[in-house]
Amino acid sequence: MSPAADADSRLPRHVAIVMDGNGRWAQQRGLPRSEGHRAGLAAVRRTVEACRELGIRHLTLYAFSTENWKRPPGEIRALMGLLREFLDARLGDLLRQGIRLHVIGQPERLPHLVRVRLDRVVKQTAGGKEGTLTLALSYGSRAEIAAAARQLAEEAKAGTLDPRTIDEATLAARLQTAGLPDPDLVIRTAGEKRLSNFLLWQLSYAEFWFTDLCWPDFDRETLHGALAEFARRQRRFGGVTHA
Ligand code: IPE
Ligand code: IPE
Ligand code: MG
Repeated sequence: MSPAADADSRLPRHVAIVMDGNGRWAQQRGLPRSEGHRAGLAAVRRTVEACRELGIRHLTLYAFSTENWKRPPGEIRALMGLLREFLDARLGDLLRQGIRLHVIGQPERLPHLVRVRLDRVVKQTAGGKEGTLTLALSYGSRAEIAAAARQLAEEAKAGTLDPRTIDEATLAARLQTAGLPDPDLVIRTAGEKRLSNFLLWQLSYAEFWFTDLCWPDFDRETLHGALAEFARRQRRFGGVTHA
């Protein structure tokens, strides 16, 4: 039985995933790292579809971090090529399913051919009402928060914002995730237990779930396992639980 069937109310509205372990998956098979990324793309497809079927409205995937620019140029090229493939191949599905593509990060740092496709898919899916797929691309949470702080300072300087009125909501509204609910559940694959500069603000009260499986091996069953555990967790948000 799918975890959604008996625990609808306990289904996360928003799942965020740090898709890690593509390189190790390839290494374990004597393949180049790029093959791991290719297999990772298949896992992305499966996961987007599974979330859709389960009724998870918002999915955020960490696809490339600001720090990932340190990688060898050949690996970056392979990743960007796969991203292009994904955007070309998935537009139809997103439109059919009413899913809006949203991008967080620094798309301006991405190669032109990727940017053109991103712009097109974002524009064409803008009317999607069923849910969002957010891709974190050249994303770093600290850079995102710094940009929000900069914007607040500029508005204050211009006289359009009174600094005394700045609160959590004012800042959150300047983050690239503005309008999205915070993730309820964050999943990281490949055994690492860290955030690696992912959604530091937004994950304040998220539930964490880890698996040793590498991202290319992530499938529906793994997702169901994570959701089943999420449904059993007690979230208190700093309060007390009443029996
Ligand atoms: C995740 O897999 C994909 C990206 C970070 C782009 P990795 O490429 O980090 O795989 P490992 O961690 O080296 O195994
Ligand atoms: C985090 O994975 C970034 C993405 C999954 C896109 P990394 O593989 O870059 O993280 P570290 O370097 O192990 O912390
Ligand atoms: Mg990694």
